[in-house]
Amino acid sequence: MLRPQRLDDFTGQERMKANLSILIEAARARQEPLDHVLFHGPPGLGKTTLAHIVANEMKVNIRITAGPAIERGGDLAAILTNLRAGDILFIDEVHRLGRAVEEILYPAMEDFVLDLVVGKGPGAKNVRLKLPRFTVIGATTRLALLTAPLRARFGALYRMDFYELPAMETIVTRGAVILGVDIDPAGAHEIARRARGTPRVALRLLRRVRDYAQVRADGHIDLAVAEAALNLLEIDRLGLDNLDRRVLKAIISKFGGGPVGLDTIAASISEEPDTIMDVVEPYLLQLGFLERTARGRVATPHAYSHLGLPQSSAPNAPDVQQPRLL
Ligand SMILES: Nc1ncnc2c1ncn2[C@@H]1O[C@H](COP(=O)(O)OP(=O)(O)OP(=O)(O)O)[C@@H](O)[C@H]1O
Ligand SMILES: [Mg+2]
Repeated sequence: MLRPQRLDDFTGQERMKANLSILIEAARARQEPLDHVLFHGPPGLGKTTLAHIVANEMKVNIRITAGPAIERGGDLAAILTNLRAGDILFIDEVHRLGRAVEEILYPAMEDFVLDLVVGKGPGAKNVRLKLPRFTVIGATTRLALLTAPLRARFGALYRMDFYELPAMETIVTRGAVILGVDIDPAGAHEIARRARGTPRVALRLLRRVRDYAQVRADGHIDLAVAEAALNLLEIDRLGLDNLDRRVLKAIISKFGGGPVGLDTIAASISEEPDTIMDVVEPYLLQLGFLERTARGRVATPHAYSHLGLPQSSAPNAPDVQQPRLL
């Protein structure tokens, strides 16, 4: 099992973990259900993992669903009436709940009641059902898309950031132990360094490098094997993959470096705008390769030099700081 089960086994995100453990310990000491919790941040950083850890630490059941999976108010009502006191309802992609579903969720989260309309036409009656005290854990990659009333009902909001290199190394090393992969510290360092601060990416690269080590080497992952495998996968030394580079190159060579709108970029390389916004952009922004301006996306001089493209073509390129290497 690659997913850590306890908060102590969850590497990195130290400040968030400290806050979360206080939340959990206090609720447990008072023998109360946990306040509603929202995790937000780029994909693959551990939001779902944390929801399971919280359930584990609170010793309660977790019921898992996702915004797009709850189509009608009745679907949510059915879920809510089946919860027991203290249970956790994990709602992934919570920004994608429909309006009608949200309206049912508000009073459920705030007052633990369910307002139902029974019957149809003039004979219809409003009925209010009491619900057990439960906890919603929401996860989203797009905090900005969450409606204000929904956001306001979460008592604890935690932002997940890209992981620092030491935490990434620990995650790779721990993953290798669990998978039974033979890797040395330099090999682990190289995978960690190219995994864009994202545990999911690190574990994926570890598996692919293991395959490479098995087929092209003697199964052992050292620096040379890790480098060769990652180069073959076209993961560069900053962790950029093909898609990242296609996005940057499109902005630079098709749109003169920007500013250019997200949808235009997406259309020009036949990719989904959502993928670019959720997966590609957060990391490019973090590296200082991309800027979001009111008029669109702009490639920075660092992006030009990383790709080895002449900067003379950069139209009044913005002045930015050195990229932060992970
Ligand atoms: N801190 C961590 N330590 C070790 N492994 C981790 C950590 N965070 C995440 N992982 C691993 O990385 C993978 C992705 O984590 P998870 O599914 O929780 O991410 P997520 O934030 O929910 O992503 P998404 O937004 O795509 O749903 C899992 O295999 C998980 O075990
Ligand atoms: Mg998830």
